[in-house]
Amino acid sequence: MKNFEKTILITGGAGFIGTHLVKHMVRKYPQYFIVNLDKLTYAGNLQNLDDIAGSPNYHFVKGDIVDSNFLHQLFTQYTFDGVMHLAAESHVDRSIASPMDFIHTNIIGTVNLLNACKNAWQDNFSDKIFYHVSTDEVYGTLGDTGLFEETTAYDPRSPYSASKASSDHLVRAYFHTYGLPVKISNCSNNYGPYQFPEKLIPLFIHNIKQNKPLPVYGDGKYTRDWLWVEDHVRAIDLIYHQAAVGKTYNIGGFNEWQNIDLIKTLCNIMDAKLQRPAGSSEQLITYVKDRAGHDRRYAIDATKLQKDLGWSPSLQFKEGLEKTVDWYLTNQNWLEEITSGAYQSYYEQQYSHR
Ligand code: NAD
Ligand code: TYD
Repeated sequence: MKNFEKTILITGGAGFIGTHLVKHMVRKYPQYFIVNLDKLTYAGNLQNLDDIAGSPNYHFVKGDIVDSNFLHQLFTQYTFDGVMHLAAESHVDRSIASPMDFIHTNIIGTVNLLNACKNAWQDNFSDKIFYHVSTDEVYGTLGDTGLFEETTAYDPRSPYSASKASSDHLVRAYFHTYGLPVKISNCSNNYGPYQFPEKLIPLFIHNIKQNKPLPVYGDGKYTRDWLWVEDHVRAIDLIYHQAAVGKTYNIGGFNEWQNIDLIKTLCNIMDAKLQRPAGSSEQLITYVKDRAGHDRRYAIDATKLQKDLGWSPSLQFKEGLEKTVDWYLTNQNWLEEITSGAYQSYYEQQYSHR
């Protein structure tokens, strides 16, 4: 193997955000060797990475972060300079139906990874980085006003957010207790290509295309702050390379939307792209039973990231939504492949009782 400047482990690199991050790192930093570790759960898709799979600075390893023996072997085989940790169970609705998978991967898996780094790096932490990618959902829910800041107290309310909050606390504990050089970011809702079609935007694109009902939870007035996935990836790159060790950054789009307004905008875009009469997709909107413990509003204050590292979101939301719709309409094979089999049974189970 050629001499690379650094070897970086990215976990969860076959998932939605991981796919974008792996491609970004492999292309932008040919001097880095990128190892992508992923269990390839329902949410991981190696085909996403076909275009960089043959790159000399990239290698994929299939494995489970819950398996500490496997991690020990991996850290013996490679000398990692840094870890970008994204592997997680990530869907709130699945966490309500099946919390234990979230406890295993998000909490135990993260501790296993922290231990693997601590053991491998014990003689020398200098120039090492453990970067933990987390979510704004750890802060709980907001009323009509206010924003999540880095100092907002944690108040997670779903098994997903509670498991991510636990992992954040453990990452900070390893910083304070053992001096492990960690960085953390908490990001708002991402959107863009390669997102698994059980999350709001790709699910609704898929359903509109198929003329299927659009299941809006509760009154539809829940609010999320949406960020173009590649803007998240740029922020991760900046924080990894430039933030001080021990720091936390919030990442968000300054882009709050009530679900129902977002859905209507998406319907209009889809009508135009599919050359359907204006207003036809909106007729698919169907109000269904609310999600249990549904957080009312998330909104991120990303000022610290802007001020410290000069980051800001690159895309207006409508432009990003158009690009997302275009991608899903041009990549119908991708959607069809992952919406067969296991996806069908998930979908039937999730929406049948509503
Ligand atoms: P995703 O569900 O699309 O991908 C997760 C990936 O992790 C998959 O490829 C899966 O196969 C892999 N994985 C799951 N369990 C594993 C295990 N035990 N061992 C190894 N690999 C495993 O998730 P995503 O949306 O890409 O999110 C990535 C990270 O970013 C997560 O940590 C999530 O909490 C965080 N995040 C996501 C968002 C968002 O809007 N999607 C926002 C903020 C933070
Ligand atoms: P989601 O994409 O699951 O992300 P998160 O729960 O992490 O915010 O959901 C985004 C919002 O859309 C959330 O308020 C729940 C709502 N939602 C629906 O109304 N219907 C659906 O079928 C889904 C999947 C989500």
